[in-house]
Amino acid sequence: MTAQTIKPSKTASNASPKTKTSNPITMCIDIGGSGLKAMLVDAEGHPVSERQRVVTPAVATPRAVLKGLDQLRKALPTFDRVSVGFPGVIKKGVTYTAANLHPAWYGFPLAKELETRWKKPARAANDAAVQGYGVVKGDGVELVITLGTGLGSSLFTDGHLCPGLELAHHPWKRDREYEDYLGRRGLDKFGKKRWNKLVQEAIEQTAQLFNWDHLYLGGGNAKKIDFKLGKNVEAVSNEAGLLGGVALWRDW
Ligand code: BGC
Repeated sequence: MTAQTIKPSKTASNASPKTKTSNPITMCIDIGGSGLKAMLVDAEGHPVSERQRVVTPAVATPRAVLKGLDQLRKALPTFDRVSVGFPGVIKKGVTYTAANLHPAWYGFPLAKELETRWKKPARAANDAAVQGYGVVKGDGVELVITLGTGLGSSLFTDGHLCPGLELAHHPWKRDREYEDYLGRRGLDKFGKKRWNKLVQEAIEQTAQLFNWDHLYLGGGNAKKIDFKLGKNVEAVSNEAGLLGGVALWRDW
């Protein structure tokens, strides 16, 4: 597996970044259902490397994914610490669900494993929460929804995360979950036109449920949205899923 270099949309230097403790460099990782991505980011949240990507292993056990992460690490210059966005429930660095990866992620100490493997401090959080840290304004109730292989969701009040929101597996319509309609399976099954209608419907549902002041739509499939976004609804760059990783090291 060779890492593929993707130029970041923001200015990034290709020079080997300085690893001063005053400006620690974070290797921000996004574990996704179709790709594993990583980029180095400085303390202020600016990219300081290109983005690297490898394909998510078909059988995405912890062992296989860690091998992919090793590839990403090799493709990047040095760094001081690690942040990971993980596509499932994760508490204190331990993963509990990963609907689009593999059941072996139940109870896996991801952050600890990376610390041992790479000898760098590591923190991990849900991928939609990390994406949220990269985009929210810190004002009022802000909901983040990511449309990718899975359906990510995170909720913030005045910039503070309300952890644990899992809209993906909440029942919706008859006997299904939101993710069955809005994730990649839904897009493949219903086609772009109907999927767009469903996304619109879900946005209305979330507005009634959370009374959000602002909604952000991210993830690889957000670019497939073909309707006009309403007031206070914004499509955000997929790169935020990496840039937000720096927030995991903030002093709260
Ligand atoms: C998981 C979420 C995750 C989302 C996007 C869902 O299947 O349950 O935790 O945020 O996929 O990766």
